Amino acid sequence: MHTDSRGDSPETPVIPRLRGVLESIPTYKPGKPATAGDGPVTYKLSSNENPYPPLPGVMESVLGAAGSFNRYPDMACSGLMAELAERFDVPATHLATGTGSVGVAQQLIQATAGPGDEVVYAWRSFEAYPIITRISGAASVQVPLTGGETHDLDAMADAVTDRTRLVFVCNPNNPTGTVVRRPELERFLDRVPSDVLVVLDEAYREFIRDEEVPDGIEIYRDRPNVCVLRTFSKAYGLAGLRVGFAVAHEPVAAALRKTAVPFGVSQLAQDAAVASLRSEEALLERVEALVGERARVSAALTAQGWTVPGSQANFVWLRLGERTAEFAAACERAGVVVRPFPGEGVRITIGETEANDLLLGVSEAFRKEL
Ligand SMILES: Cc1ncc(COP(=O)(O)O)c(C=O)c1O
Repeated sequence: MHTDSRGDSPETPVIPRLRGVLESIPTYKPGKPATAGDGPVTYKLSSNENPYPPLPGVMESVLGAAGSFNRYPDMACSGLMAELAERFDVPATHLATGTGSVGVAQQLIQATAGPGDEVVYAWRSFEAYPIITRISGAASVQVPLTGGETHDLDAMADAVTDRTRLVFVCNPNNPTGTVVRRPELERFLDRVPSDVLVVLDEAYREFIRDEEVPDGIEIYRDRPNVCVLRTFSKAYGLAGLRVGFAVAHEPVAAALRKTAVPFGVSQLAQDAAVASLRSEEALLERVEALVGERARVSAALTAQGWTVPGSQANFVWLRLGERTAEFAAACERAGVVVRPFPGEGVRITIGETEANDLLLGVSEAFRKEL
């Protein structure tokens, strides 16, 4: 009987050889969508999205680009790069784009770490970090958050070894919304060896109102091992178009261009990002409204008796432990979908006022039963 080179008979289905490491990698879990259909209206507070629809100018630029998507996009994202370079006063050679900032984060790991290497980050933090680290073959070193739900930067510096290739500092941290401030960040950066890349993930930068939190782009200027990640998905409201970028010194930015998926950022996304930067005033007004809602929701939760870590992002965190799933289910019954992390807590995006009110109704009733 004919056998193939692995000795399988034709009747035995041949399974392609996948990398063993995949077995230890969870699939990324997106925030649950709001339920569609004839039932009551539901609100999606599970993915830290901006609840506002695109601004008119942004919509027009996307519609303009839509007529030519039979063509590949501008691979160098030249228009967007020029706009960003001017906006942040950085050389265009210090910029790199990707399919959302998660795409850029993955490019960073591919550029720095592989089997035998380590990537250090706080935990809990952005759930893509363990996934993209394992995919590269590197190992994660997760440093627990402090009791106050903030990065423990001293412990993170202690966790850096000669195997460490990259450290993520998520500021504000997803899912807790907590921040690291200038003196502690500077002290940490002074301790990390200069050949280890420190990635300041600032996906929620525009929501920060605490003046003690440094702008990563100011920090990167005289620290060649610091890279800043930003995105158009959150404050700028372009989550569905997939565009994020990094600001880093030239060797890192050049490496990012090598590890990018060619043509990953569509022309629609590039044009929408440029239009968003040009409509910034209107966009940031909306961000201001969300910041106001964040203050209102946080104060109301605190008044109800919850411990709410101070959030500088567009979400708040409730540590519910074993009651997490129950709370998430109660929210869903009331028409709001939140993001549970089983056994730990829920992350609640600040959304439309009506959605925030529904959430506060649930949290009040739940609190009374505790
Ligand atoms: C901390 C953090 N970084 C990066 C991202 C990725 O966002 P995007 O890929 O849409 O830019 C997210 C999204 O939730 C996030 O929370």
